Amino acid sequence: MSTDLVVILGATSAIAQAYARRRAAAGVRFVLAGRREERLKVVAADLVTRGAASAEPLLMDLSAIGAIESAVETIHARFGPPQEIVLAYGILGEQTVLERDVAAAQAALDVNFTSAALWQLAFLKGREATQPLTTIVIGSVAGDRGRRTNFIYGAAKAGIDIFVQGLAHAYAGTPARFVLVKPGFVDTPMTAGFVKSGPLWSTPDRVATDIERAVRRGARVVYTPWFWRPIMAVIRRLPWFVFRRLKI
Ligand SMILES: NC(=O)c1ccc[n+]([C@@H]2O[C@H](COP(=O)([O-])OP(=O)(O)OC[C@H]3O[C@@H](n4cnc5c(N)ncnc54)[C@H](OP(=O)(O)O)[C@@H]3O)[C@@H](O)[C@H]2O)c1
Repeated sequence: MSTDLVVILGATSAIAQAYARRRAAAGVRFVLAGRREERLKVVAADLVTRGAASAEPLLMDLSAIGAIESAVETIHARFGPPQEIVLAYGILGEQTVLERDVAAAQAALDVNFTSAALWQLAFLKGREATQPLTTIVIGSVAGDRGRRTNFIYGAAKAGIDIFVQGLAHAYAGTPARFVLVKPGFVDTPMTAGFVKSGPLWSTPDRVATDIERAVRRGARVVYTPWFWRPIMAVIRRLPWFVFRRLKI
């Protein structure tokens, strides 16, 4: 019996690295997909030091939609079917810029939604019906309600939320599982331009711990940290006459 294979799409992400470090201790094999070769090699070496059986970089632009199916075929041919897939790549983008640059908005939607959805279809298509597979998708609380400051990113994350819900429904009762992760503010390179003070800010390690616990418990959706669930429940329910005045 071969060791479990974990494919991380966006392996240079700070959140993905924190999660992978935890999984490495279980001695799994990794395929680490991303677009920065040197960084991927550093991440791979670190994971092997921490107990991974192997860690192989896969260099590619993960939003290159036309390359997704052949990349999945390559992974299957070289490593066999994965037991776990982590979709961690994404870009935040500058909302005011994206609103005025249709090509940039399309690129952002391709990264955060279209490609992320298609990777999942491609992996599921190549899977044997009896093969256990856990897909962990990093969405965002930004997908819970459209807001003026980030609705292009938020719409992509909302789209992936519905997509994962639908897959979970379609594969209910099978060994294919889906976990949608909804972080709030996390201190990572993605949020480098933000002022990071206050109790709402979290860390990649905290998010990784919550992901690990959600997978262990069989959760389908995890807000991380937990307090984002009640916060977003309130935001979603705010009446329009209140919501429209908020500068969020
Ligand atoms: N940080 C937050 O506050 C926060 C909150 C909610 C949700 N999230 C989500 O959490 C996930 C991980 O983000 P993070 O916070 O860990 O930020 P991060 O460290 O900046 O990671 C984002 C990763 O996405 C990769 N990436 C982006 N476009 C790519 C592409 N076309 N091809 C390959 N790789 C690509 C980046 O690669 P490069 O290094 O090559 O640029 C980077 O490794 C994302 O889905 C993000 O939307 C983050």
